[in-house]
Amino acid sequence: DGLTAFRGEPLADFTIADMRAAFPAAIAAVHAKAGRVIPLSIGGKTIETADRIPTVNPANPDEVLANVCQAGISEVDAAIAAAKAAFGPWRDKTPRERAEVLLKAAAIARREIVALSAVQVLEVGKQWDQAYNDVGEAIDFLEYYAREAVRIGTPRRMGREPGEKNHLFYEGKGVAAVIAPWNFPLAISLGMASAAIVTGNTVVFKPSSLASLIGHGLVDIFKEAGLPDGVFNFCPGRGSVMGDYLVEHPAISTIAFTGSMDVGLRIIEKAAKVHPGQDYCKRVIAEMGGKNAIIVDDDADLDEAVLGVAYSAFGFQGQKCSACSRVIVVDSIYERFTARLKEACESMKIGPAEDPANAMGPVVDASQQAKVREYAALARQEGKILVERGLDAKGYFAPMVVVEGIRPEHRLAQEEIFGPVLSVMRAKSFDEAIEWAMSTRYALTGAVYSRSPRHLEKARKEFRVGNLYLNRNSVGAMVARQPFGGSKMSGVGSKAGGPDYLLQFVDPRVVTENT
Ligand code: NAD
Ligand code: ALA
Repeated sequence: DGLTAFRGEPLADFTIADMRAAFPAAIAAVHAKAGRVIPLSIGGKTIETADRIPTVNPANPDEVLANVCQAGISEVDAAIAAAKAAFGPWRDKTPRERAEVLLKAAAIARREIVALSAVQVLEVGKQWDQAYNDVGEAIDFLEYYAREAVRIGTPRRMGREPGEKNHLFYEGKGVAAVIAPWNFPLAISLGMASAAIVTGNTVVFKPSSLASLIGHGLVDIFKEAGLPDGVFNFCPGRGSVMGDYLVEHPAISTIAFTGSMDVGLRIIEKAAKVHPGQDYCKRVIAEMGGKNAIIVDDDADLDEAVLGVAYSAFGFQGQKCSACSRVIVVDSIYERFTARLKEACESMKIGPAEDPANAMGPVVDASQQAKVREYAALARQEGKILVERGLDAKGYFAPMVVVEGIRPEHRLAQEEIFGPVLSVMRAKSFDEAIEWAMSTRYALTGAVYSRSPRHLEKARKEFRVGNLYLNRNSVGAMVARQPFGGSKMSGVGSKAGGPDYLLQFVDPRVVTENT
């Protein structure tokens, strides 16, 4: 097909002087543009609405980075109409033509990688490296799905029966609603949108209101990449005003959602109902929450385990679906592990993500901050506090909490907190640790630190999560290498960044010719 083999973007490396030097200027440029209005983009046209939501810097909520126009019902109608009008011609392009647009988009994002990272540092409080790696993952999705679309895009001859020719091929379904979270704001948004687009669908994209400035980046990237008007429509809006309307709209055929379990389940329920004028059974791809565990076995390499647990629990303030929120430690190593974990957590510097010396920053908004504080209070009731550290500053800083004495029946062991709260559980054996790891209704990520081949084998079989890591941390899945996604209440759908993902966005067809 003339395409080079897929290779992932290199991760952030701040020993490279140019990379390090580029960040302060890029961050300053985002500050300098603070307060501008972000319009909708529908059918290639810019549309301003009166209803606006300010998007702020969580380390300094007085700083309004942008005022984002919100779609009401009529703008959703307009966006769907534009997407519908663009659908036929876009579906009928060749997979290679569509893939070329993604490859151009990848090149643009690569050129702008530091600028796109800087917006994340200020809009959602991501550390420099985490922001850079999010943009890197977005580029990977574009490069990977471009190649995947070409791979699955060649019609396949089926059977060899004399007198007939059968061809199986795939076609875009129609208008897809892409509904994104704020925590991997470019990677997940571009991943879902580009998958829909490259398979011949058109998109109405609703970013999270907490990351709409980052979400608007998609408009510029796709425009410069030459995507025809109407194929991608930027439609930020309040979930409470237009969320259900978008999901229930009869012209939507696919909904690609990533976010919380509650909203995901609501979308699945609403999408199941057929409305007048609807001629598609809607397909919902829903990637939802997690309550991920890392098991530390009695023979684990503690240097690795302590760092891996602390990074998985507190990187980006624990606001990752893949974050570790339970560490299950086998009894005989418990005291040694927890003493070292405490030391590691106490040495992490807390402060704005703008300063790369800080390992933990603010959570994304006031409601996340209040939620973490509530769970910190619950931690005092359900267990015994091992570490509680905060920062008395004006931003949305929430305490880092490590709580021990947690058992599977506690709320701390069952509910997704999505913040820097880590429950420590003491299991009497490796078998019990596996049993406890599996005792929630989520099944997203997990990790095990052990030197025992027998225990690693047991984990492989019985620690049934979507992404299991043996002797490494539980975050940072790489496109094509660790296709990502969970089962049970963590999601329905195939893995993002994997070989089955695009098949969710297409209708398979077979044409048989009697020859
Ligand atoms: P959220 O569910 O609050 O919001 C996600 C999106 O849904 C936002 O754009 C929001 O505006 C929209 N929304 C809200 N109500 C809606 C409605 N009624 N109809 C349609 N859309 C609606 O999630 P969040 O806070 O943005 O993200 C955090 C959650 O996402 C966590 O639970 C995390 O585990 C999960 N997550 C999962 C994955 C994964 O791959 N499994 C990846 C990242 C995040
Ligand atoms: N893909 C992200 C990770 O693995 C969620 O951390």
